[in-house]
Amino acid sequence: MSNTKFSVLLRALMVAGLALGAMSAQAVDEAAAKAAFKDSKCTKCHSDDKDKSGPSYKKVAEKYKGQADAEAKLFTHLTTGPTIKVDGEDEVHAKAKGDEASVKNMAQYILSR
Ligand code: HEC
Repeated sequence: MSNTKFSVLLRALMVAGLALGAMSAQAVDEAAAKAAFKDSKCTKCHSDDKDKSGPSYKKVAEKYKGQADAEAKLFTHLTTGPTIKVDGEDEVHAKAKGDEASVKNMAQYILSR
């Protein structure tokens, strides 16, 4: 292969790589997620990096790191109202308000802390 052909090929590969990177880095709408947490009163028990009655989102992200089904698990957690322990007492976990896209965005926000 000639040098020019090689450099054209190389550049094409780099552009393809950038495009792939941009697609996989699914953009989290942070402002929308924060508004949704407020609206669903999640902020009462959770914050980005401080433990309250509930674990920080950072801790949750660490717990699920590398798990392909993490988003699905959080989606279930946020839509089915599982029984959890809040300060030692059984309590039904709050359900997230909003539509499917909004809850998915919340899950992605949490996992990206
Ligand atoms: C009354 C306090 C309280 C409220 C309100 C609350 N949570 Fe939680 N949440 C908890 C506690 C406590 C846990 C830990 C449960 C456990 O590990 O058993 C938890 C766990 C979680 C987890 C981790 C689940 C897992 O699989 O590890 C996520 C994510 C989460 N909450 C998100 C939210 C969101 C989003 C909202 C708002 C819709 C919300 N929480 C509202 C107390 C709360």
